[in-house]
Amino acid sequence: MSAHSAVDIIATKRDGAALSDEAIEWVLDSYVAGDVADEQMSALLMAIFFRGLNPRELNRWTDVMIASGEVLDLSRLSRPTVDKHSTGGVGDKISLILAPLVAACGAAVPQLSGRGLGHTGGTLDKLESIPGWRAHLSNDEAIEQLESIGAVICAAGEGLAPVDRKLYALRDVTGTVESIPLISSSIMSKKIAEGTHALVLDVKVGRGAFIKSLERARELARTMVELGHAHGVATVAQLTAMDQPLGRAVGNALEVQESVDVLRGDGPEDVRELTLSLARTMLELVGIDVDPATRIDDGSAYDLYRRMIAAQGGDPDAELARGSHHHVVTAAHDGIVQSVDALGVGVAAWRLGAGRARKEDPVSAGAGVMCLVREGDFVVTHQPLFELFADDAEHLERGRASIENAVTLGDHATEVAPILLERVTH
Ligand code: URA
Repeated sequence: MSAHSAVDIIATKRDGAALSDEAIEWVLDSYVAGDVADEQMSALLMAIFFRGLNPRELNRWTDVMIASGEVLDLSRLSRPTVDKHSTGGVGDKISLILAPLVAACGAAVPQLSGRGLGHTGGTLDKLESIPGWRAHLSNDEAIEQLESIGAVICAAGEGLAPVDRKLYALRDVTGTVESIPLISSSIMSKKIAEGTHALVLDVKVGRGAFIKSLERARELARTMVELGHAHGVATVAQLTAMDQPLGRAVGNALEVQESVDVLRGDGPEDVRELTLSLARTMLELVGIDVDPATRIDDGSAYDLYRRMIAAQGGDPDAELARGSHHHVVTAAHDGIVQSVDALGVGVAAWRLGAGRARKEDPVSAGAGVMCLVREGDFVVTHQPLFELFADDAEHLERGRASIENAVTLGDHATEVAPILLERVTH
């Protein structure tokens, strides 16, 4: 007979007391084993949602999540490892540029990623729009590619923190996703199990992010940075603005094309600026004194991108898909762009076919939105604001209906907020 009972553990947290290390171990292990039922774990998650976890509880909770699966050993690599995680934004294609860029500077970047759900796209979905590219690698293949090329972006194996998959599915249907300790342990358990030595977190704040206030973003960032430090991972967080989409392209193949543009020294300035800022922080964490801008300028980052894509079966020269149906949204009158609503654009791209509602849904490679104006731009009547792409008329119409009011025009100049808001180091 066990010394613990799920009901007692739920009641302890419900009443605001702290759980012992043993209780945390027991309840998570028993949940994996099927001895704690979904309804009991749901109640505990809701109690944590309202009562939180103190730092000791959160550390233990995260340790047990990590220990539920395998931990990759990247210590035999000849270069220092550093990864980046973004909490998700509209048009956030930074990983596609950053991984080869930082590798071209001499680090190894193990980007074990997920797929998109809802209005923010997933890195794997974007890369899968490259003909032939394969997301699933074995651990040995991923490590081998890290050694030979320096960067790998692939699907996080089922073996990393497997309890997270079970917990996340439950949180998704019980209104318990938006809890700082639960988000932090979910993200950090996977990153720590991945074996990276250093980590930069890009915590998105604003209309298009799932965290809208700076206050909460700071709290999430601090919590994750502390968890990283407690587990021996050098971790820094950057809080970055996500009110308007990042760059111009939102949609899978469209974002791959824009990433290639940036790697070749073109592309939108905000994407380049954010990528370079994250790259500098990553390099600083692993003690590499190289200016990443030089690796874009000399072509080595683009060359590394091509090798990274080819190593996973992708053809970096293949033509990328573009939806056969398209529509241009134009300005109804003259004015200065006061806002481009990232959430509205993200939802439109999703409805056009670029995103999925359920995790088993397919995504369209060629669907998406090109944002043709940014906050602060002056526009004239009939000037194109967005170009929409979809694979069929029905998706095109759905996307068109939801983007109609995504741009607000006014008659006064607007102050455009900087993209990098704050850095959190402890
Ligand atoms: N991403 C994750 O991996 N987990 C969360 O809980 C939220 C975002």
